Amino acid sequence: MSRDQTTAKTLDLLVVGDCNPDVLVLGDDVTPEFGQHEKLVQSISLVVGGSAAITAVAAARLGLRVALAAAIGSDPAGEFMLGQLASAGVDTSGVTVSGLGTGMTVALAHAGDRAILTATGAMTSLTAGAVRRDLLAAARHVHVSSYFLLEQSLGPGVAGLMAAAHANGATTSLDTNWDPAGRWGGAQLRAAFPHIDYLLPNKEEALRLSGERNLDAAVAALTSAGPAVVVKLGPSGAMYADSSRVDRVPVPLGLDGSFVDATGAGDCFNAGLIAGLLRGLDLPSAAQLGCAVGSASTRAAGGTAAAPDLPTALRLAALPESAPAAG
Ligand SMILES: Nc1ncnc2c1ncn2[C@@H]1O[C@H](COP(=O)(O)OP(=O)(O)OP(=O)(O)O)[C@@H](O)[C@H]1O
Ligand SMILES: [Mg+2]
Repeated sequence: MSRDQTTAKTLDLLVVGDCNPDVLVLGDDVTPEFGQHEKLVQSISLVVGGSAAITAVAAARLGLRVALAAAIGSDPAGEFMLGQLASAGVDTSGVTVSGLGTGMTVALAHAGDRAILTATGAMTSLTAGAVRRDLLAAARHVHVSSYFLLEQSLGPGVAGLMAAAHANGATTSLDTNWDPAGRWGGAQLRAAFPHIDYLLPNKEEALRLSGERNLDAAVAALTSAGPAVVVKLGPSGAMYADSSRVDRVPVPLGLDGSFVDATGAGDCFNAGLIAGLLRGLDLPSAAQLGCAVGSASTRAAGGTAAAPDLPTALRLAALPESAPAAG
């Protein structure tokens, strides 16, 4: 797609969504015990969290010009996020400060699985109207993260936001992430589908969004609703589908044994996929780049610590360093 010829673009990517610190607890036994028991764990780290913020930082590391639209509070957690985003090179002029506290997540990670506690705080004060129109007009691609966390606030305006992105010549993508309410969307989300070029759920999310029992049927149902679909499959890589093809890509070789933590792997995958598409790669190659970035991110605790630069990601994905010829 080459919609980006209509407006002069000064940004590659505008990410819209959640922005909060993650407190990440790693260890063999991270299950809390009530009754005031104190347990020692391997590590507790304060890291960049929020699906949108992780995608923004990972995309900036891949060399994209990135801005984030999100809502934080006026507090140390918000300051931490602004500092981390700025030092990664993400434009934070679209991050608004609300009267609520910055959202926070505590993730307890053990043996490749996680238990997650989130207080949404300020993040749910983000509305589509608060997304700066100049950033929207400047972006070649607009990505919405954590649709369900923001379903009541950003949700009503998502279809309009995506339509405006298209009208401005941008391509669009949306990662629903998990629905804590368990409703898995309705008319509001469906209304956005015609304006979404790439829908980026993981397997469980794809099954629930479609109401189907197996992945092939889920992908067929979701693509028939409009968007191309790329389903993240953890260590099994990803499945991609559009109106003309369905196939899978594996995670790159050479990462076995180096797994530390999968927090934010899906968000890093999104950054890699979008970077690939903006580079002019076709969907299979962009999904390969997504897998490389997602896999690389699992080699350190948190979402962004091990997010790779572009040469590293291209090498892992076995893709050439030179961009494909236009047209
Ligand atoms: N254990 C792993 N080993 C290697 N690569 C992995 C592993 N887990 C995830 N990945 C890579 O990261 C990508 C995205 O991971 P995953 O399927 O966990 O997404 P997700 O469930 O959306 O994650 P998130 O929790 O960030 O939303 C995968 O497609 C794969 O490329
Ligand atoms: Mg995800």
